[in-house]
Amino acid sequence: MRKKVTKAIFPVAGMGTRFLPATKSVPKEIMTLVDRPLVQYAIDEAREAGIKEFIFITSRGKGALEDYFDNAPALEQELRKRGKDELLEILKSTNMESGEIAYMRQHKPLGLGHAVWCARRLIANEPFAVILPDDVIAAEKSCLAQMVEAFEETQGNIVAAMDVPDHMTSSYGILDVKEDMGSIVSTNGMVEKPGPGEAPSNLAVIGRYILTPTVLQKLNSKKTGTGGEIQLTDAIADAIADGEDVFGYRFKGQRFDCGSKSGFLQATVAFALARDDLRDDLWAYLNDTVHSHKAAQ
Ligand code: UTP
Repeated sequence: MRKKVTKAIFPVAGMGTRFLPATKSVPKEIMTLVDRPLVQYAIDEAREAGIKEFIFITSRGKGALEDYFDNAPALEQELRKRGKDELLEILKSTNMESGEIAYMRQHKPLGLGHAVWCARRLIANEPFAVILPDDVIAAEKSCLAQMVEAFEETQGNIVAAMDVPDHMTSSYGILDVKEDMGSIVSTNGMVEKPGPGEAPSNLAVIGRYILTPTVLQKLNSKKTGTGGEIQLTDAIADAIADGEDVFGYRFKGQRFDCGSKSGFLQATVAFALARDDLRDDLWAYLNDTVHSHKAAQ
């Protein structure tokens, strides 16, 4: 019987050191692109893909994330009183149903693989998605929805992949490609952050995965890899070595690395330019800035 993907894990237990001092008190995932926190983009993407259960792997200091998903009756009442119906609708669209969201605590930041493993009892024996909210993907059809469609065909593990230049392979997990079929590639293996000249391809894995329970079993070994962390990439590579199918999926859309300052700024500009209420002012400002920089050079 064909299996459906209805559960997603959102690992948000990392320390977010690249955004210190902000992340001393604000979880990275609550930081906003224009006026929506990163985590809201991730939830919307998952919903569009048919996800029904949202599992957050959190850590100390991430309380603001849990508060964000609570209903805010006092605020809603005030907005209603003031006739702010549009804002009320925006607010309501962020509410979560009771029981559809779960929080698990990762007690030590032992790595992404370990964070995913923390959800093993909630996942049990089903395929599941993993979404890293700091990878934000602007796409007509949500990236995860595209991957779920591909999974319905293949029923094998799928990782989102994009082509990167040679000098960038050491920042990503890189696929060892068996057969390139265009939007889908089959794989022989995967290497975490290979240095220049060591990368088996230029196809990098980014923060969207659909995985089978076999990968969770591989994480049971708690093997440490690059950076002394328990890596999700290593568990996926172990599953491939055991004969599991793992496909790379070249999604349609633009990915922003919002875990880095420069990626976050680029995403802010891109999402603001996509908004009718902001586009004209921002565009004029960017134009003026570019012209005065050029003139000064
Ligand atoms: P990153 O490598 O981006 O680390 O983690 P980070 O802590 O978020 O940020 P920096 O590098 O210190 O600035 C990738 C994803 O894995 C999660 C993070 O929350 C992020 O979504 N993660 C990482 C965990 O949940 N637990 C971990 O132990 C490590």
